[in-house]
Order: sequence, then structure tokens, then C-alpha cells
Amino acid sequence: MRLFIAILLSDGMRAALTDAQNGMFDRGVRGNFTPEENMHLTLAFIGEYPDAQRVLDALSSVSFTPFELRLDGIGCFGDLWWAGLTESAALAAVARRVRRALAEAGIPFDKKRFSPHITLLRRASGKMPGIALRQASMTVRAVSLMRSERGRSGMLYTELGTVEAEEE
Ligand code: 2AM
Repeated sequence: MRLFIAILLSDGMRAALTDAQNGMFDRGVRGNFTPEENMHLTLAFIGEYPDAQRVLDALSSVSFTPFELRLDGIGCFGDLWWAGLTESAALAAVARRVRRALAEAGIPFDKKRFSPHITLLRRASGKMPGIALRQASMTVRAVSLMRSERGRSGMLYTELGTVEAEEE
């Protein structure tokens, strides 16, 4: 199965992101818009791996306290458009701990540098207008192990388990 580790977003964050997508669409941008229910922030991409329980066991060693995420601007990697986040030492630390836990358990993952982004649109066409991203923030209280499958009408993401923040 295809696995990745992510932070799932609050309703408020997803609403702000959907507004930005609607702004793009209304102004002629086309492409593969991420459905609201699929929006997430990836911390580590594992890819094909047979043993979800082993990943959950590794994740259980990751500890963190709740922290804030705040949307901050829109950017692109080629024709993939994303929403960025305000720089956060707590976010960088949790990504580092997740990746270290995977490495220590011998679970392979994509070692590309962590570059926090929430994908809004893939294979974009049309000139991108200036899009105002509404202010939105959330408190992160969990990190999720996700399974990704190709469904009939797009990707289906399923949460297989979580590691919860320690309450302060
Ligand atoms: P993306 O949104 O920038 O494409 C599920 O595929 C999640 O894992 C997506 O958030 C995707 O990021 C991310 N991801 C990171 N590295 C990936 C890779 N090598 N292949 C596919 N998805 C990857």
C-alpha cells in the first residue's frame, strides 16, 4: 500500500483554501484541484510499503506538544500550486522527529528536504491571477498515517492511525 504521514487540516483552514481555489477557477485557471476532503500537509512520503502497523509503532515514539499552523501565501512548483505556512520551528521539529523515527525503524521514505506546502492544484493551465489567501490558522494536535489509493474519480486518502500531541 502507498503510505504517507501528514497533518490533517481543520475545517476553517480547508474553507480558506477552498475559497482560494474558487478564486482561481472563477478567473479562468483550470487543472486538477485538490478536493477539500483531501487537503493535508505532508510531513513524510513513504510510498509503497506493506506494513502499516510497523509505521504506527515507529510513529508512537514521536512526541510533540500542540502547535499553531497559519496559512501564508500561495506559490508554485512548476504547474503545481500550493498554499504555504508561516515559518514554524515546532512544525520543522515534528517533521524532523517523524523522519528520524522512520529512519531508525528502517522504513524508507522520500528524503527530499521538507518543504511545507498544501497542494491546491496540479497540472494548472491558464495564467494565475493574484489570489488573496484568507487568514486562517489551526492548532495541530495529531499527526496521521495516511493510505493513498487511486479511486474512480481521483485519489482516496484514508487515515490508518495517529500519534496525538501531549497536552501541555
Ligand atoms: P504533493 O502534494 O506536493 O504532490 C500524497 O501523495 C502526498 O505525499 C502529497 O502531499 C504529495 O505531495 C506528497 N509527496 C511527497 N513526496 C512525494 C513523492 N515522491 N511522490 C508522491 N507524493 C509525494
